[in-house]
Amino acid sequence: MILIIYAHPYPRHSRANQGLLAAVSDLPNVEVRSLYDLYPDFNIDIAAEQKAVERADLVVFQHPIQWYSLPPLMKLWIDKVLEHGWAYGHEGNALNGKHCLWAVTTGGNEHHFELGDHPDFDVLAQPLQATAIYCGMHWLPYFAVHNTFVCDEIALKAAGEEYRRRLTACLSLKEGCPPEVDFG
Ligand SMILES: Cc1cc2nc3c(=O)[nH]c(=O)nc-3n(C[C@H](O)[C@H](O)[C@H](O)COP(=O)(O)O)c2cc1C
Repeated sequence: MILIIYAHPYPRHSRANQGLLAAVSDLPNVEVRSLYDLYPDFNIDIAAEQKAVERADLVVFQHPIQWYSLPPLMKLWIDKVLEHGWAYGHEGNALNGKHCLWAVTTGGNEHHFELGDHPDFDVLAQPLQATAIYCGMHWLPYFAVHNTFVCDEIALKAAGEEYRRRLTACLSLKEGCPPEVDFG
């Protein structure tokens, strides 16, 4: 099962992320949890979220990039749901062996990420990647759609098809998504 943890502060104003979701939402065994729809008051149901994660072979974190980072409700989800004794620490092995995919959209192009002492887009994956690995997950090559400020419908459609191809590759594998699968 593929679980998409989706965080868009204004889901109904989204173009890129809605396009990606539309491209995969009819796939079997895909569950989308739109955090800003579920928890407009930021009061996350930790037990419900943990149950959803436990059902999943692949956990996808999908969101638009905001100030080079995650939307606040996704960060809160990570802080609240990945509890000690469940996600890590003594007997905290709920995420062990699951796969993790970061699916992100950005308004800017590659040059937008050349600022600061540690330029490059890959650096932005580091906090989520380290979190996933710390919790025993297999980190997959991320899926990024850049340039959403200017890209046209054709580019967005192609991105949706690629996203669908990546998730379908997971669904077609009986044992989930082993890291050696080529998602490139
Ligand atoms: C508060 C805020 C901060 C943003 N920060 C960034 C950023 O740091 N880098 C970037 O490339 N785009 C940034 N964006 C643009 C969004 O990432 C972009 O609009 C989004 O990926 C498009 O997806 P959507 O059509 O689903 O909304 C920001 C947007 C908002 C609202």
